[in-house]
Amino acid sequence: MKKIHIHLLSIIFATTGLVSQPVLAADVAAGKVGSATCAACHGNNGISMIPMYPNLAGQKEQYLVLQIKAFRDGERKNMVMSAMASGLSDTDIINLSAYYASLDPAGK
Ligand code: HEC
Repeated sequence: MKKIHIHLLSIIFATTGLVSQPVLAADVAAGKVGSATCAACHGNNGISMIPMYPNLAGQKEQYLVLQIKAFRDGERKNMVMSAMASGLSDTDIINLSAYYASLDPAGK
């Protein structure tokens, strides 16, 4: 079990490493289009209007990638977010993360 876990972690880190490579440049505009479904909860500008829902604007891009993948892959569990992330491809996640990371954390 331990070995499998370590292996999984190394895959996650390897994938994250790739994200920072300019070769896989994220498409912020595509991320913005994809974020329409997220805006209901996380706000149009990445600032949530609901106390229970986190702000995403200006969050670190690689952290967002890791969290959305964790929801999708069942490593982080939340009824709402697991469902939201289940249909996303790696490319969708990279683009959404780049979009939210590009937003002003002050909501401007
Ligand atoms: C119906 C409401 C809802 C929608 C729609 C929604 N989310 Fe979430 N999101 C949440 C909630 C609630 C949490 C907090 C989950 C938890 O407690 O673990 C969350 C957490 C997150 C987090 C983790 C933030 C952190 O600081 O760790 C990310 C990233 C995220 N959502 C991205 C998205 C993206 C991208 C979309 C669109 C594809 C989306 N969400 C759509 C409700 C929503």
